Amino acid sequence: MPEINLKLHKNSYPIIIGSKILTGFAKALKQRLFLGNRLVIVTNPTLRRLNWFNPLCKRLSRAGYKVGVVSVPPEATHRREPDLEKFKSNQMAMYLYGEFLKNRLDRTSTVIAVGGGTTGDLASFAASTYMRGINLIHIPTTLLAQVDSSIGGKTAINLPQGKNLVGTFYQPRMVYIDIDVLKSLPRREIRCGFAEIVKYGVIKDGSFFNYLEENIEVIQDIIKSKN
Ligand SMILES: NC(=O)c1ccc[n+]([C@@H]2O[C@H](COP(=O)([O-])OP(=O)(O)OC[C@H]3O[C@@H](n4cnc5c(N)ncnc54)[C@H](O)[C@@H]3O)[C@@H](O)[C@H]2O)c1
Repeated sequence: MPEINLKLHKNSYPIIIGSKILTGFAKALKQRLFLGNRLVIVTNPTLRRLNWFNPLCKRLSRAGYKVGVVSVPPEATHRREPDLEKFKSNQMAMYLYGEFLKNRLDRTSTVIAVGGGTTGDLASFAASTYMRGINLIHIPTTLLAQVDSSIGGKTAINLPQGKNLVGTFYQPRMVYIDIDVLKSLPRREIRCGFAEIVKYGVIKDGSFFNYLEENIEVIQDIIKSKN
């Protein structure tokens, strides 16, 4: 399975990429990182309902971790698909700190952000500030989060005055990318991710841009295959 080691001296971390690799996440966590046994998964109500979510939690429990799951927004308050950007807020950061305390997270514990860029930005902001910073892992589930927001260590919440006005730089201990989870992603979100990918080609890498152009039909087919 492809792996990129992002070299940042003592903050270096692996980015593990593959298809159908979520089943191996608990084992990878146990074997690669020697972390405390308390974890909180921060996610959103949509992802909690997908068929891979509960098995992921069960495997972590079986591997010996005490697993808490926190949805943003909280499950009971929002039944329809919410605009997650509204919940990338200081109120939700406070809510997460409370949930981390309830789950008795300490400096050895880990926050696992399972979701798109909004969930990742909020969860990583909370992980970077709770007890002055605890372990963080990203499992990005949108194309944008897989190619952009989960990498590089930028965390953020919004203020009423504007987007991403408060944040930290905080590197995760691992980024674990299963491209198979993108199957349920709506067409609009796939488009957003591809726009970001094209931007990389335009800004930084001519040969990568040419590669995208040569494969434009494949890309269009992927987008068309979505609802
Ligand atoms: N930290 C960074 O470096 C960085 C970089 C770029 C963007 N961002 C931030 O990322 C955010 C946007 O993230 P996004 O585009 O991933 O959107 P998002 O997190 O709002 O997710 C979009 C929608 O996709 C749904 N979804 C997520 N994964 C799914 C899956 N596998 N199947 C079905 N539905 C799924 C979500 O429930 C949500 O409704 C913005 O807040 C932006 O500021 C951060």
